[in-house]
Amino acid sequence: MPFARRALAALMLLLLAGAGPVAAPGSVQPAGWDAGVRLPEAPDTNPDPHVVEIAIEARVARVQIAAEQSVDAWTYNGGVPGPLIRVRVGDRLVVHFTNHLPAPTTIHWHGIRLPIEMDGVPGVSQPEVKPGESFTYDFTVPDAGLFWYHPHVASAEQVGFGLYGALLVEDPDDHVGVADQLVMVLSDMSIVPAGTLEPADAGGSIGTAFGREGSHVLLNGRERSTMTVRAGAPQRWRIVNTAKSRFFNLDLGGTIFRQIGTDGGLQEYAVDHDTLVLAPGERADVIVVPNGTPARPLTLRSVLFYRGFGTVEGRFPYDDLATIDFAEGPEYAGPAPPEVTRHIEPIDRTGATAVDLQFTLVQAPDQAPEYQISGPLFSAKEKLLRAKVGETQIWEVTNKSSWSHPLHLHGYFFQVLDEKGAPVRPMAWKDTVNIPYDSTLRLIVRFDDRPGSWMFHCHILDHAEGGLMGMVVVGNAPSADHVHH
Ligand code: C2O
Ligand code: CU
Repeated sequence: MPFARRALAALMLLLLAGAGPVAAPGSVQPAGWDAGVRLPEAPDTNPDPHVVEIAIEARVARVQIAAEQSVDAWTYNGGVPGPLIRVRVGDRLVVHFTNHLPAPTTIHWHGIRLPIEMDGVPGVSQPEVKPGESFTYDFTVPDAGLFWYHPHVASAEQVGFGLYGALLVEDPDDHVGVADQLVMVLSDMSIVPAGTLEPADAGGSIGTAFGREGSHVLLNGRERSTMTVRAGAPQRWRIVNTAKSRFFNLDLGGTIFRQIGTDGGLQEYAVDHDTLVLAPGERADVIVVPNGTPARPLTLRSVLFYRGFGTVEGRFPYDDLATIDFAEGPEYAGPAPPEVTRHIEPIDRTGATAVDLQFTLVQAPDQAPEYQISGPLFSAKEKLLRAKVGETQIWEVTNKSSWSHPLHLHGYFFQVLDEKGAPVRPMAWKDTVNIPYDSTLRLIVRFDDRPGSWMFHCHILDHAEGGLMGMVVVGNAPSADHVHH
């Protein structure tokens, strides 16, 4: 080929190489080890090192979830999941959001302790972003941890169709000591045999009461991914369950999951798990040390998790998420990662207000089943609790239904006190916690100086839309009682 074209081709190769993944400093993995699972990142257009400024566009796009399966999904920037947003704790994040979907939407920043104006709840914190419209989200990220983003309009439908992404808030001084890190977005998607998305109301009110699980189980948007790792080398996995109903129960062929953190960053001390359960909305920060040989790969799978009547019976017992192949070469022989601990001060219980919440599923004759919070007290359309700025509340949540419900509170972290009367340790900051069927859990929360109407709901999004959704109005009102209209 002529010289100019050859030069151009070489230049393009260089540019491509320059834009490609760069190994983390201190990486002990083979080059390209995570190429099959690495998430695309949104480019930061702001030169200020403490401001991350990105553009996100919601639009329908064809995505490939397996070699022989693609589908027109609802996407952020053309991919499922959306781009990984990477910031440092204390940074300001500016997101120029444009909606090119055929429906109104918003973005909710799950777990971020932000001002109510940025919470993404239509009619409460902002108007819906209509097709063709834009909205700029602009806030500071006060806590390190893995968070995520998703719509808060017709959430069951829009999340089920593919709208979710991870927001990683890094703390450069966290001393975890593992350079090789993966962000894993777990989800599922329902595709009908014709190759299109299954309508979000499939199965009617029974589907809603149960919580619809997608037919295709995805890790970072792929049905079965592969990575090639170095045997015996520690990896840090930051995992979020963005599925609208499915619980993930991870199994790595006997390899231990050493959990060092959860929703709101690192936890009090590490806990080893044989299998790792994540309810919808929850996150886990774990260290794994996969071991094997090129002839003996490992499989990361999700084993069915019993979340109530009918959720396991007659179903295939697991879904494979990824194959972990081992590179040729010597086993890693470096030091084991250090112990990771974090001092977490228990929230002071003195003067805390007691709040009683009951989750029930009621079915009147000839009517669709309906979820209720605290029966008649709460069955009015406005399901409101009140809290004063600075007030501490202890929520006693009793789940009287036959299904487990992961409860999520917007805008604030809480600490779980006990489950079925047994104290819960290690101490951790949570924004989503599973309330198992037929059980009671107590959590404590302090409402700091960010007034506004903050939602709480089951993160099985069908259940939220089926009635398990309320709001706590934080302000300077005189009473912490229910609001009656
Ligand atoms: Cu992640 Cu109101 O939700
Ligand atoms: Cu639920």
